[in-house]
Amino acid sequence: MKRILPFLFILIRSCSSLPDSPQLYHASLVYFTDNPSTNPDALKYIEDGGLVIDSGKIVFSGVYHDAKNAFPNARIHDYSGKFILPGFIDTHIHYPQTEMIASYGEQLLEWLNSYTFPTEKHFASKSYADSIAAFFVDELLKNGTTTALVFGTVHSSSVEALFEQAESHHMRLIAGKVLMDRNAPDYLLDTPESAYEESKTLIERWHHKDRLSYAVTPRFAPTSTPEQLGKAAQLLQEYPDVFMHTHLSENKGEVEWVKSLFPNNKGYLDVYNHFGLTGSRSIFAHSIYLTEQEWDVMSSTESGIAFCPTSNLFLGSGLFDVQKATQKNVKVGLGTDVGGGTSFSMLQTMNEAYKVTQLRKAFAVNPSEEKPLSALQAFYLATLGGAKVLNQEAFIGSLEAGKEADFIVLNPHSTDLMNLRMSKTKTIEEKLFVLMMLGDDRTVEQTYVLGDAQK
Ligand code: GUN
Ligand code: ZN
Repeated sequence: MKRILPFLFILIRSCSSLPDSPQLYHASLVYFTDNPSTNPDALKYIEDGGLVIDSGKIVFSGVYHDAKNAFPNARIHDYSGKFILPGFIDTHIHYPQTEMIASYGEQLLEWLNSYTFPTEKHFASKSYADSIAAFFVDELLKNGTTTALVFGTVHSSSVEALFEQAESHHMRLIAGKVLMDRNAPDYLLDTPESAYEESKTLIERWHHKDRLSYAVTPRFAPTSTPEQLGKAAQLLQEYPDVFMHTHLSENKGEVEWVKSLFPNNKGYLDVYNHFGLTGSRSIFAHSIYLTEQEWDVMSSTESGIAFCPTSNLFLGSGLFDVQKATQKNVKVGLGTDVGGGTSFSMLQTMNEAYKVTQLRKAFAVNPSEEKPLSALQAFYLATLGGAKVLNQEAFIGSLEAGKEADFIVLNPHSTDLMNLRMSKTKTIEEKLFVLMMLGDDRTVEQTYVLGDAQK
């Protein structure tokens, strides 16, 4: 017996480090159970925390000591002094625009013609799309983004390339082929019929494959004829659990253009609403220039908004009213909107969201009514808020037991400057604020998808 014991010990030790055996992560845990704007108890912060993962799921989330007692055989990963959060959720991004990020000087409509459309032309080639899709997914993961709602181009193969890459990482990702049958160069146009058929083929092939979902993706009202918007609605009726993803009220010139293209509608959102494109699975990027009546429609239809601050500032589009969304009970998440947006980092996106709320205060008629975005609100938008916009909160967006194990490790000492500033902080709110103002991809020490380390 004495001679067998050491072998038994080695056997048990090696079994406990198999990927499917419990893994215990020791760090400070930060996540939300609700919206901190409306619920003061929404933040869960466990300074000496333990997160236990088994077979890709969170099985325990709480105090480290309790985790260790409950899972004495778990393999321990020591991230003490660091933060574990749910993976970031980017609710609006264009993967084909990765290579044209930071293109100078134009506002939305000129920017589309000068930079965007010529770039998207290249995605007619599947091998080109493959190489950018691989780069794009790596960039998401490097920045701690584990789920995204993504625009492809008009070419089906662009979406095939992206889904293939996301599937190889088992990511929870939503994407779709762009529908666009007017007001763009001929080389990027489809037709109502081809848009319908190609989207249908992609839905049949990819929707619910692994962790992937499909979004019917009309670019925006100006580039689709009424016939094509009708076809988009037909797809949503035939496949009620696919998503709808488009742009809305981003730029003043765009809003006027929509009025002239659709004179019989009450306004921009009414165009989408008229065709049956609003609803709890519909996500509208930007939504800056909504009228009171449009806010009510967003709310009553349970549609969601992707707030994209780096893009809104870069393209000079305007200042989104995130407070209004809370007042109107409209779901909001954060989007990078690369390549109108200037960073893949959701930390940098939170940074600029804060600056948008500061500028709103500067320009407000009643400045006292405008409150700068808090760190808790910002981190909520980037995690559980985004999950709710995408109807994924049953699976992702928090660290509660039962959720899928998409999580990230943030290092609060990732740069010298952050280290110095952190040494002067006391509360978790202060620390999170420093992370979002000074953090970027260097701050993301590790990204886990379904419990698998990606770096
Ligand atoms: N509106 C229509 N297309 C686009 C796009 O590609 N980017 C942004 N930011 N807005 C749009
Ligand atoms: Zn966009």
